[in-house]
Amino acid sequence: MRKTLQGMSPYKVTSEQADVIRLDSNEAYTSLLSYVDFSELETTLLNRYPAESTESLIEAYSKFSGFPAENILAGNGSDECITLISQYALDPGDQVIVFEPDFSMYEKNARVMGAEVTTIKLNEDFSLPLQKIKDEIERLAPKLLFLSNPNNPTGRLYENEEIEELIASMKQAGGILILDEAYMDFSGESAFAKKVLDYENLIILRTASKALGMAALRLGFVISNDRIVEGISAVKPPYNVNTVSAQIGTQLLKKPELLDQFLIMQLAQIAELEEIMSEFSSKVEGSVLYPSSANFFLMRMEGAKDLADYLYERKIKIRTFDNGSLQAVRVSAGTEEEHEKLKVALMNWSDK
Ligand SMILES: Cc1ncc(COP(=O)(O)O)c(C=O)c1O
Repeated sequence: MRKTLQGMSPYKVTSEQADVIRLDSNEAYTSLLSYVDFSELETTLLNRYPAESTESLIEAYSKFSGFPAENILAGNGSDECITLISQYALDPGDQVIVFEPDFSMYEKNARVMGAEVTTIKLNEDFSLPLQKIKDEIERLAPKLLFLSNPNNPTGRLYENEEIEELIASMKQAGGILILDEAYMDFSGESAFAKKVLDYENLIILRTASKALGMAALRLGFVISNDRIVEGISAVKPPYNVNTVSAQIGTQLLKKPELLDQFLIMQLAQIAELEEIMSEFSSKVEGSVLYPSSANFFLMRMEGAKDLADYLYERKIKIRTFDNGSLQAVRVSAGTEEEHEKLKVALMNWSDK
């Protein structure tokens, strides 16, 4: 391993038995596979590299999302999009700004490129420390600043004006702001979606893994102006999205009513989870449940790890954070039946 990467640990991925209720990864809780027409895949040229399939996928995503097709790049999940952006933008020693807490892959990819990463802690209520960020941008002149909006793991949606200010600061510093909107579908329209092409230095990231329920397919999208898209294309492997994923993704993206219904269903489950978590939080002294614009809730509490272990023994998996500055659990929305079991287990734990 390169000297500069020593100590880097793998992103923890664990397999689970089918009977474990998975509320730990912010995925959609049910699958749309029954809506896929597999007979259409019978003509798939298994012996050929994907080209047409990616083109069709981008066309379908363009129609679905409203972004022009020529300003969209598809990746093997938005994870790969983060890698491609880092490869495109970063020389060793370049500065990158990320936040704590936020999605961990930003820092990892920047470090792999040999960049210097500055982590800025969010305020206690997880709002952006705007002046501090602007000062750091001015001081460091970072090439990239990554932020998820809504934020993972806090669920917080930032003010448009704040993001606007950060884009302007990054522009002055000669850097790009990456706005990762993995969870934006849950909170409505993005103010930046319509005007992303008006900016010189803005990249929007989207994924099919969350509200669209296709995490298994690994489909992510970069949206930006012509210059940036052209630059990222130069580092992108030619066949990064496989034919089967692209074909299934294209089919589902061509069913906007189905995806709308799917979203409405998930929003109802998110509301149900909020009620459960509020009731639970009211029973746990000192806990703070944060409002969320995503499909999960973060609750600061003492004993987060103990709760997660207790739930896991009852075959319910949630995510914990325990890193000194944040002791919390994050719970993703599930089915009614899963919520019922979660609720019983949470109440039993709090009555212990
Ligand atoms: C903020 C954020 N961005 C990106 C990703 C990665 O998504 P994908 O499945 O598209 O790689 C995640 C996954 O949890 C996420 O939370």
